[in-house]
Amino acid sequence: MLTTPKNQPEDNSLDQTLRPSTLSEYVGQEQIKENLGIFLTAAKKRGEVLEHILLYGPAGLGKTTLAYIIAGELSKNIKMTSGPALEKSGDLGAILTNLKEGDVLFIDEIHRLNKVVEEMLYPAMEDFVFDIIIGKGPSAKTIQLKLPHFTMIGATTSIGNLTSAFRSRFGATYKLEFYENSDIEKILKRSSRILNVKSDAEGINLIASRSRQTPRVANRLLKRVRDYVEVKADGVIKKDIAEKALAMLAVDELGLENADRKILETIIKKFNGGPVGIQALAASAGEEENTILEVYEPYLLQLGFINRTPRGREATLSAYNHLKIKAPPQTKNLI
Ligand SMILES: Nc1ncnc2c1ncn2[C@@H]1O[C@H](COP(=O)(O)OP(=O)(O)OP(=O)(O)O)[C@@H](O)[C@H]1O
Ligand SMILES: [Mg+2]
Repeated sequence: MLTTPKNQPEDNSLDQTLRPSTLSEYVGQEQIKENLGIFLTAAKKRGEVLEHILLYGPAGLGKTTLAYIIAGELSKNIKMTSGPALEKSGDLGAILTNLKEGDVLFIDEIHRLNKVVEEMLYPAMEDFVFDIIIGKGPSAKTIQLKLPHFTMIGATTSIGNLTSAFRSRFGATYKLEFYENSDIEKILKRSSRILNVKSDAEGINLIASRSRQTPRVANRLLKRVRDYVEVKADGVIKKDIAEKALAMLAVDELGLENADRKILETIIKKFNGGPVGIQALAASAGEEENTILEVYEPYLLQLGFINRTPRGREATLSAYNHLKIKAPPQTKNLI
């Protein structure tokens, strides 16, 4: 799916070329930048290792980017891993014991760490020690290794799946928000410069308005529109040609694709507008539950097209209007 905010294989090189490397180049998220700036400066002034940081928010909003920036601002190395990659406590031990004083350890998808590894991480985060068990059965011994002081940065799209015990071990927690269109435009202009793409303001504005308020989607659309204008026009991204490119890619005025519309249509047509539970919705729409929760739903909620109630998801009046389906009289919008 073209507008999925999730990382796709083709994004990796693009992400790297377009990733800002300093806090001042990082567009938007003003509150985070301000708080983080103070947090970083204070730690540096005191000569202390930065406390652990938790970053959360929907995919593609810039969590990994921010982690690299933090390490860069601290002039420290960053080691990257992820919840699913740390299967055994030994995997964690290998990483922790290789860290140097002040290094940053980035754990992506931290909500997918298994319980055993999570609990091994607690003493490492709090007291910078790591317990290894040597031997088996009654003769087994625990040896405690001292670790260098390090900063852990955890990232998650799903903060609700973290225990409060885990969350409380972070010194600071930042929530990434969807971006204003004007910020997406800034990101697109910067990316156009880096990719050497010519564009005018209206062309950029059009792509921004269809980027789901998400930098990763914006960069991906920019690349696809560039291909189109190079083949079909003079290579300059202008409004009309960008519109044609996005129509061909089935991305609508709000950045929704067929899969998003199908989810809304399922709620509306098969469940009379809802409420419908996530399981039933996933089965009817032919999608995985997690894909709905992590990929489609955050932006549909952001648009106010879905209302989450204790009994399930409901389509709002705006959703009916967007799909040009006549809503039953009792349909409400979000307040
Ligand atoms: N604030 C920003 N300013 C400029 N570009 C940004 C910003 N945030 C993200 N980007 C761009 O969007 C891309 C995706 O961001 P990133 O990989 O950091 O997202 P993420 O939140 O880690 O996503 P995921 O949850 O899928 O891991 C980056 O490569 C970068 O080019
Ligand atoms: Mg990431």
